[in-house]
Amino acid sequence: MPKPILSKNFGKKNAHSLGVYIQDGGYEAMKKALTEMKPEQIIQEVDKSGLKGRGGAGFPVGKKWSFIPKEAPKPKYLVINADEGEPGTYKDRPIMECDPHAVVEGAIITCFAVGIHWAGIYVRGEYVKSIERLEGAINEAYAKGYLGKNILGMGFDLDMVVHRGAGAYICGEETGLLESFEGKKGQPRMKPPFPAIVGLFQGPTVINNVESIAAIPHIVKNGGEWFNGLGAPGIGGGVKLFPVSGHVKKPGIYELPMGTPLREIIYKHAGGIRGDKKLKAVIPGGASAPVLKPEEIDVPMEYANLAKIGSMMGSGAVIVMDEDTDLVKTLRVLMCFYAHESCGKCTPCREGTGWMAKIIKRIEKGEGESADLDTIVSIANGIRGRTLCPLGDAAVGPALSFVTKFRQEFEDYIKVGAG
Ligand SMILES: Cc1cc2nc3c(=O)[nH]c(=O)nc-3n(C[C@H](O)[C@H](O)[C@H](O)COP(=O)(O)O)c2cc1C
Ligand code: SF4
Repeated sequence: MPKPILSKNFGKKNAHSLGVYIQDGGYEAMKKALTEMKPEQIIQEVDKSGLKGRGGAGFPVGKKWSFIPKEAPKPKYLVINADEGEPGTYKDRPIMECDPHAVVEGAIITCFAVGIHWAGIYVRGEYVKSIERLEGAINEAYAKGYLGKNILGMGFDLDMVVHRGAGAYICGEETGLLESFEGKKGQPRMKPPFPAIVGLFQGPTVINNVESIAAIPHIVKNGGEWFNGLGAPGIGGGVKLFPVSGHVKKPGIYELPMGTPLREIIYKHAGGIRGDKKLKAVIPGGASAPVLKPEEIDVPMEYANLAKIGSMMGSGAVIVMDEDTDLVKTLRVLMCFYAHESCGKCTPCREGTGWMAKIIKRIEKGEGESADLDTIVSIANGIRGRTLCPLGDAAVGPALSFVTKFRQEFEDYIKVGAG
């Protein structure tokens, strides 16, 4: 297993305090960035690192930063997405709890590179400890002169705040998050304009995930090529946190090279299937990622490779299901989640997610018929690509993949009925 970088402070005593963080080389990257590098050089290093957004969409981080106009009539903003609502995903929480200064340092470097003077982190409301730790780190950084006016005497000013969310999955979607941040109902906006041009309070806005931002100090300190080289040969893109849950012997967060085969994550790192049972199915990237069958798990965990086999990397959250898992119940839980979390702004998602949930509940009760499965496929195809934000497509992924890849299990349920 490679030496941990992003997770090096997980479980380390007092690593959240400024003193311990600095003792371990913390804020050296910030000093290097502000005193030795030009903003364009920082963006170039992030480009070279191959770092892709860790929130789900996998957009190259350096490229996203370069979309922000240099001159803008409105202030520019950095918004860090710490909503972490994707089922199965629990990788940002330990970063915020154990390594909050990595997020603050990453934010300072990002803002310096892009010419931003205000950063906000939108944290899932239930993450009370994360909020406390981030607020503590921000206060310490202000007291040390790393935030506020004239940082390191370099004429660069930056303010940073923590904003607490209120528990809606849709507030993790970047434009829903911006609405919520502004104090409005968390419903996504039409795109374009994209947040890089019209974002928070109408100003150009960089939105990045916690893990993306926490990787920045390491990239600046050691170089973009170094980070890129940490990824699997021929794949690059650095290291990534993979939260593994479900029926494995050792559930947990594994920091591994981008492109590590899914089989290796499950069987080598997470110890294989609990009770040495057979594997039935794996969701590779959080609930929205189409499910994989056991014969598909030799795929490298990386954006393009997962897309090639019809799934997606998403947040990298691996959910493992053994041979005893009832996939009808599992899909019912997922469909109820999407129906509940749909914000209702556009019709295909608002109605379609509810219809799919109702049908799957009927099948689970033993009152379904074979045609119901075709109806689910037809509803899912009607949602796909026709919604205002990706939540609609996120519901389609599990619906289509469960029903088409495991159709016989659904058919058996229909014939036999529940229990
Ligand atoms: C329904 C939905 C929920 C999302 N939830 C999160 C989340 O909790 N955290 C996150 O970082 N990104 C989430 N995203 C992705 C964000 O919209 C956005 O792509 C991401 O914050 C950008 O940061 P990155 O480029 O560093 O990944 C979500 C997207 C959708 C459609
Ligand atoms: S796709 Fe769903 S969550 Fe997104 S805007 Fe439409 S109704 Fe809201």
